This record gives sequence, C-alpha cells and structure tokens, in this order.
Amino acid sequence: MKTIPLILMGCGGVGSHLLQHIVSCRSLHSLQGLLLRVVGVGDSKSLMVVDDLLNKGLDDNFLLELCRLKHAGESISKLADSGHCHVFAHPESQGKIVEIASQLGKKSGLAFVDCTASSGTVSVLKQVVDMGCCVVMANKKPLTSTMEDYENLMKYPRRIRHESTVGAGLPVIASLNRIISSGDPVHRIVGSLSGTLGYVMSEVEDGKPLSQVVRAAKSLGYTEPDPRDDLGGMDVARKALILARILGRRINMDSIQVESLYPKEMGPDVMTVDDFLGRGLLLLDNDIQERVEKAASNGNVLRYVCVIEGPRCKVGVQELPKNSALGRLRGSDNVLEVYTRCYSDQPLVIQGAGAGNDTTAAGVLADIVDIQDLFP
Ligand SMILES: NC(=O)c1ccc[n+]([C@@H]2O[C@H](COP(=O)([O-])OP(=O)(O)OC[C@H]3O[C@@H](n4cnc5c(N)ncnc54)[C@H](OP(=O)(O)O)[C@@H]3O)[C@@H](O)[C@H]2O)c1
Ligand SMILES: *[C@@H]1O[C@H](CO)[C@@H](O)[C@H](O)[C@H]1NC(C)=O
Repeated sequence: MKTIPLILMGCGGVGSHLLQHIVSCRSLHSLQGLLLRVVGVGDSKSLMVVDDLLNKGLDDNFLLELCRLKHAGESISKLADSGHCHVFAHPESQGKIVEIASQLGKKSGLAFVDCTASSGTVSVLKQVVDMGCCVVMANKKPLTSTMEDYENLMKYPRRIRHESTVGAGLPVIASLNRIISSGDPVHRIVGSLSGTLGYVMSEVEDGKPLSQVVRAAKSLGYTEPDPRDDLGGMDVARKALILARILGRRINMDSIQVESLYPKEMGPDVMTVDDFLGRGLLLLDNDIQERVEKAASNGNVLRYVCVIEGPRCKVGVQELPKNSALGRLRGSDNVLEVYTRCYSDQPLVIQGAGAGNDTTAAGVLADIVDIQDLFP
C-alpha cells in the first residue's frame, strides 16, 4: 500500500469538495493500492493537525463533519482539540507546517495542497518545496506573482501539479505538457477561459443587451458577487500568464495587455455594485451591440479570449470565425484552441465546464493521485 500524507490549505468550495471526494474514493483508491492520509486542514484563521503525524490521519467522519461546519460558515477552530488533533492559529501555524514538512518531506513525503484564493501561501509553498514536499494547487496566485517566485516554485517540476488553475478539471495543462514534451512547437493558443464571459459573449451575440445579460448571469450564480471581478478580465489574465509561462515565456502580469469590459470611471472605488448593475451597465450596451453587429457583418462573432502567440500575450474581446470551436461556443463552457505544427490547420480543442467546486476538486484529486510514484 502506497500512502500519500497531505495537508490541505483552504477549505472553501473547492477544498471541502476535495475532502468529500477523498472520502468517497476510499475503496477505489484502496483497490489501486493507494491511501490518502489527511494530516492537516487549514482555513483563513487556523490549521488543524493530527497528533500522530507519522501514523495517523484525520478520520473520515471527522473530515465530513469539518466540511459540514465549513459549509455552515464556521471556522475550523470550532472543532478544537477533539481528541486526536490540535489547532494552531495563524501565523503560528506557519512554523507548524514547516515542522511537519521537515518531519515528513524527505521520509514519507508530503503533499501540500493549496485550495485557498490567497497570495499569502507562496512563501510557505516555496519552503515546503525546498524540504522535499510535493505541491498541488488550485490557487492561481502563487503562480502569477513574480518570475522569481515562479521559478522557485517550479524548481522541481515533477513535484508540482496545478491542473485546476486553468480550466478547472479540464486537462489543459496536461495536454500542453505532452505537446511540449514531444517537441511539437506551440504557435498559438486562443482560449475562452471564463465561464462568465463565455456566457455573456454568446448571449450578446443573440442581440440581448449586455446589461440584461450580466444581470441574468449574476442571478444564475455565474458571476462573482461583484460582476466587475469577472468583467475586468484579471482572472483570465492570470490563467493566460500561467499558460504563457508553461510555454517558457518569462513574463509578468504587467506585460499582459488586458481589456476590461467596463471603464475605470465605473470601477469599484467609484461606483457601488448596485449602481454599476443598475446605471453603469446601461451605458455600455450600445458600444458592445455595435461591435457585435460589425463582427456579424464580417461573418464573425465576438469572444472574450486570451491570445498567446510568439512573445505576445493579450486578453480581451476578439472577432473570431463563427465556424470555429470558439465561434460555436454557447453558454459557460471553457474552450481552448491550441495551434502547433501537428495541429496547424485544425487546432487541438479542449472544451467543457471550466469552473465549479466539484470539477475543480476532481482535478485537484487527480493531480494528487498522479504524483503517487514520488511516494515510498
Ligand atoms: N470554484 C471554482 O470553480 C474554481 C475553479 C478553478 C480554480 N479555483 C481556485 O480554487 C481556489 C479555491 O476556490 P474556492 O471557490 O474554494 O474559494 P473559497 O470558497 O473562497 O475558499 C477559500 C478557502 O481558503 C481559505 N483561506 C483563505 N486565505 C487563507 C490562508 N492564508 N491560509 C489558509 N487558508 C486560507 C478560506 O478560509 P475561510 O474558510 O476561513 O474563509 C477558505 O476556506 C481559488 O484559488 C480559486 O481561484 C476555483
Ligand atoms: C461552491 O461551494 C461554496 C461553499 O460550499 C458554495 O457557497 C457555492 O455555492 C458552491 N458553488 C457552486 C457553483 O456550487
């Protein structure tokens, strides 16, 4: 039996689904000779760690109880000292993590799983990597800070997995890495990597006003609480940066050209969310409608995409042929077109749901299972 001890940082939508997947996959994994031993779980306030680090994990009922608690909006510290584990408040927990990493890192191995949405995990991630641990991330932020941080994190590429940072559970990064390994040069990547913006652009294509479409997207739960977090394009830009860096471009966030769908005058420090939804959006309707019509007269459609080509990396609205994978996109799927020497006229296309707690957590779990050969 192979054992993967793991620490989960972040127990929100994705993290708690991951714990549920781990528990429900117990018998499948044991058929494969694999045991995932959860030795610690952290949220924004504290970290809970099992006492007998070398032999035990938090037991399944306890993990499920923890998920229920987090789902109800409580803190992990609520479960304090339930017999077989201890709670450490931040930032004291950082020392504990480093201690665990040094105890387990080289001996039994340790997978450090980042399901937070925080840029604050990067320093601990770099430390545990140096101590021989593996890192699995759903969190994009550690990979999109400075090039120096990126290179430090990626020093031992076999020990790092982050499939879910782009396209959630879709095999985007795995596919790119296979293409790169085979020496097939990647000429161009064009991708719609935001479910929200995919939905918005395909709805405005039908002639619906942007304002109406964004309000509908919000009520369907497709957007962030403040839809400007989606419309600004920064999340897409982070994914584009991750892809560009995989292709070997040594660039930072500030060299990506990002087109926001709303002007600065409607930014969060100028307008409230309600004002934006009520008044601001209406002012954007005409411009988008004109662009939609102009594209249509060229036989094209508008999509909000990232384009990575040569040294160029940009994010924004593009006219694309109606009769292409991206042009045919309807609704909230992610679609990625990859043009290489082998896939030159017809690109390799990866399409499917690119968000959601369940699929994202499934992608993280697959990453963990994928590194099992690195464990004794
Ligand atoms: N949901 C998706 O569809 C999706 C898809 C792809 C990628 N992702 C990425 O996956 C990550 C998690 O997403 P989510 O939707 O699960 O977010 P979420 O529900 O906001 O959960 C974030 C979790 O991280 C914890 N946290 C925040 N700062 C922390 C810190 N410094 N140390 C330890 N824990 C910390 C939070 O603690 P509290 O519970 O105490 O607040 C919370 O449990 C994000 O980076 C997101 O971009 C999500
Ligand atoms: C993801 O999980 C969070 C926390 O459990 C929940 O609030 C949110 O609605 C879930 N999102 C989806 C799309 O199911």
